Amino acid sequence: MSLKAFANILVGLSLWANSARSVPTARSLDVLDPYLFKPRISFDNDGTFKLTVFSDLHYGENPWDWWGTEHDANSTRLITNMLAAENPSYVVINGDLITGENTFKENSTDLVNEILGPINKARIPFSTTQGNHDNQVNITHLKEIQRELSISPLSYTRIAPPGVGGVGGPGNYWVPIYRKKYDFAPVLILWFFDSRGGFKTDNTPMPDWVDPSVAKWMEEEVAMMNLLWGPAERRSALAFVHIPPNAIQAVSETLNSTLNPGLNADELGQGSTQASGPGEQGNDSVFWDALNSHITNLHAVVSGHDHGNEWCAREPTKDVIFCFDKHSGYGGYDSPDWGRGVRTFIFSSTDPTHGVETYIKLEDGTVRDRVVLDKNYQ
Ligand SMILES: *[C@@H]1O[C@H](CO)[C@@H](O)[C@H](O)[C@H]1NC(C)=O
Ligand SMILES: *[C@@H]1O[C@H](CO)[C@@H](O)[C@H](O)[C@H]1NC(C)=O
Ligand SMILES: *[C@@H]1O[C@H](CO)[C@@H](O)[C@H](O)[C@H]1NC(C)=O
Ligand SMILES: *[C@@H]1O[C@H](CO)[C@@H](O)[C@H](O)[C@H]1NC(C)=O
Ligand SMILES: *[C@@H]1O[C@H](CO)[C@@H](O)[C@H](O)[C@H]1NC(C)=O
Repeated sequence: MSLKAFANILVGLSLWANSARSVPTARSLDVLDPYLFKPRISFDNDGTFKLTVFSDLHYGENPWDWWGTEHDANSTRLITNMLAAENPSYVVINGDLITGENTFKENSTDLVNEILGPINKARIPFSTTQGNHDNQVNITHLKEIQRELSISPLSYTRIAPPGVGGVGGPGNYWVPIYRKKYDFAPVLILWFFDSRGGFKTDNTPMPDWVDPSVAKWMEEEVAMMNLLWGPAERRSALAFVHIPPNAIQAVSETLNSTLNPGLNADELGQGSTQASGPGEQGNDSVFWDALNSHITNLHAVVSGHDHGNEWCAREPTKDVIFCFDKHSGYGGYDSPDWGRGVRTFIFSSTDPTHGVETYIKLEDGTVRDRVVLDKNYQ
């Protein structure tokens, strides 16, 4: 650790000591830097930062059929090739890593090694969210995360504190991105939320929305960040959650193909967004309201889950931009003309109010649906 980093820790400790008295849940040290023993993630020297998102990889489908293992091998090839093509500073895998309903209890998380192999080999910092297919009789979000952490020195995935996330939803955390490696405060916060779904290990259904307990945690974390790092306006944010918030169904009905380019092949209905089942409408609103009221300069909320969709659009009631990922895996439902690939975000300025460019890149190198997400974006 450099002297400068050590000095920053000392400054932080004194701030923490000073603030601890007024803060009942004294988890300030976490907020200061939850990754003391990992390399800090920063913008490049030229002031840019590139983040690439894989989604819905669906490994482990029908392992007893020839095509199951061939799908997995093809997905691994896609991951390897896209990492080389994009060369990102950070990678996100946004849920449904594994088709858990086809896996075996004794070795279900072995697939995590296969999925993360190319990212670990390329030594790119990354983190994951888990999806509804990652919670099944023989697999849980927690088990996947534990396996990931045990094999990946550059995984920044964390588990929420006890009591946060609800049953089956431990994957709530944030990752700070700095302008320069040893700056005291970050300029960008990546937020990750666990939308759960799927089944409990006793085969009863799991709620498919971010648990309301996450709202209060988010509020506390943001309060601590503001206390330690100064006003929220100095930072921007990008949020990832596997299942789109419920409000996105209405957005899908008012798309304009010029402003919101991209495949829109999935008609959203029950099961397509969080809390869309009977009697559940609005059960994700505690989370959705908290996200939009507590997080300042939120560039976008990013989800997978609906493999046929890849557009971005502004959600008018909260005035926040939403983007779909691109289906990356050979597993999972698809159609021959949809293509597979990634969504990349390019930050070209550390100014937190500056727009962010994003596009879809397919496995064959095609780039499409390029848009700039800024305050004028609709
Ligand atoms: C795997 O990829 C190869 C090469 O693109 C393709 O020919 C094959 O059909 C794919 N296999 C499956 C099961 O999708
Ligand atoms: C879970 O794993 C067990 C043990 O391998 C297997 O017998 C069972 O079929 C699996 N269950 C499901 C739902 O995949
Ligand atoms: C996992 O276990 C099942 C059942 O014991 C076996 O058929 C399968 O080949 C194993 N899969 C892997 C990836 O080792
Ligand atoms: C879509 O947006 C474009 C660009 O702003 C605009 O010219 C066009 O009228 C819009 N189309 C519809 C159907 O609203
Ligand atoms: C969903 O919200 C409704 C209304 O607040 C509540 O009655 C119901 O218990 C919630 N469902 C679950 C599974 O939490």
